[in-house]
Amino acid sequence: MSGIEKVCQFLEEAGTYYLATVEGDQPRVRPFGTVLIFEGKLYIQTGKSKPVSRQLAANPKAEICAFRNGEWLRVSGELVNDDRREPKAAMLEKMPSLKAMYSADDDNTQVLFFRNATAVFASFTAAPETVSF
Ligand SMILES: Cc1cc2nc3c(=O)[nH]c(=O)nc-3n(C[C@H](O)[C@H](O)[C@H](O)COP(=O)(O)O)c2cc1C
Repeated sequence: MSGIEKVCQFLEEAGTYYLATVEGDQPRVRPFGTVLIFEGKLYIQTGKSKPVSRQLAANPKAEICAFRNGEWLRVSGELVNDDRREPKAAMLEKMPSLKAMYSADDDNTQVLFFRNATAVFASFTAAPETVSF
C-alpha cells in the first residue's frame, strides 16, 4: 500500500478527523469525515458557504489530525480547490449520505486536495513514520 493510501485508510478507520485552518492569527479547528483518493490525490469535501471554505480561500495552509488504535496521524499541507465535476461526483458516490445536502452540480459543494503534504504517523511506542505526497 502506498503512503497516501495508508493515510486514506487511517482516516477512514478513524471515522472522524479534525481539520485546522487559520483565520488571521487565530487557529480554527472542527470535525470532518470526508476523504477520498481521486487521480492519486487525497481529497476532502466541504460547502463553499462555510467559514472553513472562506478561510482556505484566504490561506490554503491546513492540518488534519486523527486518532485510531493508539496511533495518531497529522497531515499538514495546502488544500487546493478543484471545481471539476468529476471529483465532486466521485466523493458523493463514495459517501452517499452527503447526497442529502450536496450534489455535484450545485453551487455549494466543494472538494479540495492536499498539495505539498507531509503526513506523520505517531504513537507512544514506535518511531514516527513520515510520508509525503
Ligand atoms: C463527525 C463529523 C464529521 C463531519 N464531516 C464534515 C465534512 O467532511 N465536511 C464538512 O464540510 N463538514 C463536516 N462536518 C460538519 C463541520 O464540522 C461543521 O460544519 C463545522 O462548523 C465547519 O467548520 P466552520 O464552521 O469553521 O466552517 C462534520 C461534523 C461531524 C460532527
